[in-house]
Parts: sequence; structure tokens; C-alpha cells
Amino acid sequence: MRALVTGITGFVGQYLKKELKNQGVEVFGTSRKANPRKTTYQLDLLDKEKIIRLLKEIKPTHIFHLAGMSNVRESWSYVSKTIEINTIGTAKLLEAIKEVDQCIRLITIGSSEEYGKVYDIKKKISEETHLNPANPYGLSKAAIGMMIKQHHNVYGLDVIHIRPFNHIGPGQRLGFVTSDFAYQIALMNKGKIHRNEIKVGNLEAIRDFTDVRDIVKAYYMVALNGMAGEVYNVCSGEGTKIQEVLKMLLSFSDKEIIVKIDKEKMRPSEVPYFVGDYSKLKQLTNWEPTLPIQQSLQCIYNNWLNRLA
Ligand code: GDD
Repeated sequence: MRALVTGITGFVGQYLKKELKNQGVEVFGTSRKANPRKTTYQLDLLDKEKIIRLLKEIKPTHIFHLAGMSNVRESWSYVSKTIEINTIGTAKLLEAIKEVDQCIRLITIGSSEEYGKVYDIKKKISEETHLNPANPYGLSKAAIGMMIKQHHNVYGLDVIHIRPFNHIGPGQRLGFVTSDFAYQIALMNKGKIHRNEIKVGNLEAIRDFTDVRDIVKAYYMVALNGMAGEVYNVCSGEGTKIQEVLKMLLSFSDKEIIVKIDKEKMRPSEVPYFVGDYSKLKQLTNWEPTLPIQQSLQCIYNNWLNRLA
């Protein structure tokens, strides 16, 4: 495998690069910003001619398309930009593949947010669950999934769409729940701020969390064994209330911390429940998540403590 990873300098990109290298894969990567050390290629996904030039130069056998806007809350403030970067950006990549080499295997990264509001919460969300995105981010990813299917059906392109549920781990930037909570708790425990109050958003939502180190293993296995034109969920199959995530992170604190709900952190529309079914992926690859959420949260908290040292 000769892999090209778009968005390689991002949170998931860094972990995927490590996993692929461990597997002996030759890895190339793109990032939005120019890299002074020239270890990655600078790429604006809306520049189709540049994508074409890159594909001709790198000659990848596989592309993991990670680049894009990933923050659900921010997608409400940048609706057209979210659609442009995520959906149009992927369309340009598909056009470039069609032109340069139709044998390249493209893995696109969607999201559980494509399912949006599901009505039967007694059942775990499978790949067959109706898509009903509830925010611009979910919509931008659902459109990618549909585009992938069309390009497989019509042109026979070797494309696969993955729908990961929430993924967490050390190094995730602020703006995602476990980092937002762990950062504030670490700040207080390091004595960097002199208030003992954590600001949080909606604690009632239920999410399906998987450690990023397990997630990237699934991406690699799908790239090796997945069926072209198919969609695969990547998740833990376990639902955790955000309140519970907060409780676990607060248990690492030496200080007594008061919880304050911050209206600013609430969203215009919130999906109350995401719990996925990964049996299709398991059947294909034997993949299963290995890291329990408590362990991931401890790593995330320790990472913030070290970064604040
Ligand atoms: N970010 C954040 N910060 N979320 C909070 C906070 C807070 O202080 N307090 C409560 N929440 C709640 C959110 O309202 C949401 O219900 C839940 O915690 C998770 O929020 P995020 O971590 O921001 O993730 P997300 O579920 O919106 O989206 C993530 O998961 C998707 C897959 O389900 C992202 O990683 C997406 O890129 C990914 O596709």
C-alpha cells in the first residue's frame, strides 16, 4: 500500500500516520497550511488542478480522506464553508481520481452525524438506519456518502465511506467535549486559574465514544478488506451520557469543582442520542474496540496536565 492521507497533521491524521507506518505502509500526507519542513504537501482541497498534480506525483494506491471541517457546533457559524470544504472538496478529489487513476482506493470519512435524529433509540444505529442529519456538518458528510455510492455505481470507482462515531484521545483540540472538560480541570489542578468552576454545555446527550487509536486501526482494516461502494460504522456500541464523562474526568481532580451550565455552549439543534452498531465491520475484519473510555479519559487528562506544565 502507498497511502496518501489528506489532513495528516490533524488529530486523527497524526494517529493514522503512526498506525500506517507501523504496518509498513509508505505514507504521504497533505495539510492545509504550508509545512516549513516540507514533510507534508500543502493542499487546498478546492484546487482540483493541484490535486491532479499531486496524484500524478505521489501515485498513491490508497487515499484516506480525513481533511475537512470537523466541529459540529462551528458548522452552524460556517454553513457554506462547511459544505464547500467537506462536500465540494471531496467532489474535487473524486473528479481528480477519475481523471488520473480510477484504480486508487478512496476511503472517505463521514460521521454518525449523518444519521442525525433517530426515532427508534431502542435499536443501535446500523448502516441501514435512515439518514436524517440535524446540522450543516452532518449534511455535508451525508452528501459525501451519497456521492461515493453514485461514483461507485456509475463509474465503478473503488470508494468506501466510513461513518465513525465520537472519537477521543490525547491531542484533540479544544471544541470537543472531552478536551474542553479535561483542559479546564487540568487548569484548575495546575493552579493556572483561581476559580473552581467548570463551564459545560448539554450534559444530557448520549454519545458513543471510541479511542482514536482504535479508530485508526479500523480505517486501515477497511482500506485492506472493505467492499467498494459500501459504508461501515466505526464505534464502540456503548452509549455514555455526557454527564457521566464529566463525572469520570472530575474524579481525576484533587480539587472540589463546581459545575456550571454555560448557555453559550448549547447548540441550536442537538442530537440527543448516538449509539452505533459495528457488526458489519466486525464481520468483515474482526475489528473490535480495545481501549475502555475510562482509560482514554485518563490519557486525555494526563496529556493536558503535561501540556500545561
Ligand atoms: N464540545 C463540547 N464542549 N461539547 C459539549 C460540552 C462542551 O463544553 N458540554 C457538553 N457537550 C456536549 C455536546 O453538546 C454534544 O452533545 C456532546 O457533548 C459531544 O460534543 P463534541 O465533543 O463537540 O462532539 P460532537 O458529538 O458534536 O461531534 C463529534 O463526533 C462526531 C461523530 O459523532 C466530532 O468529533 C465530529 O467530527 C464527529 O463526526
